[in-house]
Amino acid sequence: MDHTRETEEEALLNDIASMLAAFEKERANLIPILQMIQERHHYLSASALQMVAKHLGVSGCEVYGVATFYNQFRFYPPGKHRIRVCLGTACHLRGGDIILENFERKLGIKEAETTADREFSIDRVACVGCCALAPVAIIDDTVHGHMAPSKVEGLILGFEIEKQREKRGKQHGESKQ
Ligand code: FES
Repeated sequence: MDHTRETEEEALLNDIASMLAAFEKERANLIPILQMIQERHHYLSASALQMVAKHLGVSGCEVYGVATFYNQFRFYPPGKHRIRVCLGTACHLRGGDIILENFERKLGIKEAETTADREFSIDRVACVGCCALAPVAIIDDTVHGHMAPSKVEGLILGFEIEKQREKRGKQHGESKQ
């Protein structure tokens, strides 16, 4: 783990430790605790799950088992760009699963995962309320309707070009100093 991620993980665990103090050490609090962590940090890390197990006096396996049973929890930090693919009925009927597969293949990750550089994460979501545009993907806060495999390529390419541009801009700024 690099230094920045270590510090990040440390801050996350400190925050969870302080929040745990508010919860009685009762097994019934397991799900509310997991929800609290997910709400504050958007994912449950392995160390966070261990910490919860210790607080409640239950095994790590039990905590992990409960967390994986409910699909509301994710186990990777969200990417800088969050890709959410709708798999509600209308989107599913119009090939939402193919769109999801295309994002997965393009980025080399599965749904609910994050790329190693933390640029992208992919999640499947239920109906987002714009079925007329099916199949739909939401990237960050923008809704992309009538999705097609070629659009997946184009969208990712757009972010890559933007990243290169930012990098060049930074290098240019540094060389001027
Ligand atoms: S099913 Fe995808 S927007 Fe409704």
